[in-house]
Amino acid sequence: MTIWNLGSINADFAYAVSRLPGPGETVAATALDRGLGGKGANISVAAARAAARVVHVGAIGPDGRWAAERLLEYGVDTRHIAEGGEVTGHAVIAVEPCGENAILIWPGANAAIPESVRDAALAAARTGDWAVTQNETNGQAGWLSAARRLGLRTAYVAAPFETGAARAALPHADLLILNAVEARQLSEATGAAPGALSVADVVVTRGAEGCTWHGPGGAREFPADPVQAVDATGAGDTFAGYLLAGLDRGLPMAQAIGMAQSAAALMVARRGTADVIPDLAEVQAARGAP
Ligand code: RIB
Repeated sequence: MTIWNLGSINADFAYAVSRLPGPGETVAATALDRGLGGKGANISVAAARAAARVVHVGAIGPDGRWAAERLLEYGVDTRHIAEGGEVTGHAVIAVEPCGENAILIWPGANAAIPESVRDAALAAARTGDWAVTQNETNGQAGWLSAARRLGLRTAYVAAPFETGAARAALPHADLLILNAVEARQLSEATGAAPGALSVADVVVTRGAEGCTWHGPGGAREFPADPVQAVDATGAGDTFAGYLLAGLDRGLPMAQAIGMAQSAAALMVARRGTADVIPDLAEVQAARGAP
């Protein structure tokens, strides 16, 4: 089947810093890396590297053709990426030596994806495909509800967390993926614990502490693969892309989570975002496949 991803596309500017700046503070970076990013693009690349058929639905400005070309090079179908008048989104990412980060995004074209682009993409989708989205574009709730009406399975990655967007999207999601901070924010906003939401499957990631799947059988814990973290940026997106790709090819949830955790563990051990997401062979090797 196919994964249709309404998602952001960013130019990432990643700065290595000795520590993240506090309010009012200036910190000099020791290195700068540029690359392809955006939570949406990262998820598309991760799912493509996990051998899924992925169509990215989004927008760039005239300055972002390189990003669409790179997505294509990475195996993502880019026919539904529109080029408009807004500048391409970008992200300023500060990363500490321990791998912790802080990210500032300028949405640009990501926040101006025309409805016609979303509609044209869904018109080509088929029952049983997946539709996924995150919080870095416009139109998430409409995308998920329209996809569900067409018989697609729907997934919502609640990052970066925003209460209004989450409230609007959740009623249309079959699968919710969020990290521990976002889960706490969601619980504070809705008064409901992750397992009490009316979403069939909820996966809460907790970095080195593993993750929890709240599914039809209750809550199930999954320990994380041990790892020496150098950069957590994009690890959650890699997890989401691999999880979706696994489910799309019919893996049971527990097995898809295992693959996603191994992919995320490899990802935190390397610097960068979309450009360094591990491929399926690397993930299988890390899991001890012959
Ligand atoms: O999750 C990491 C991503 O967040 C980065 O690639 C950056 O572009 C922001 O969207």
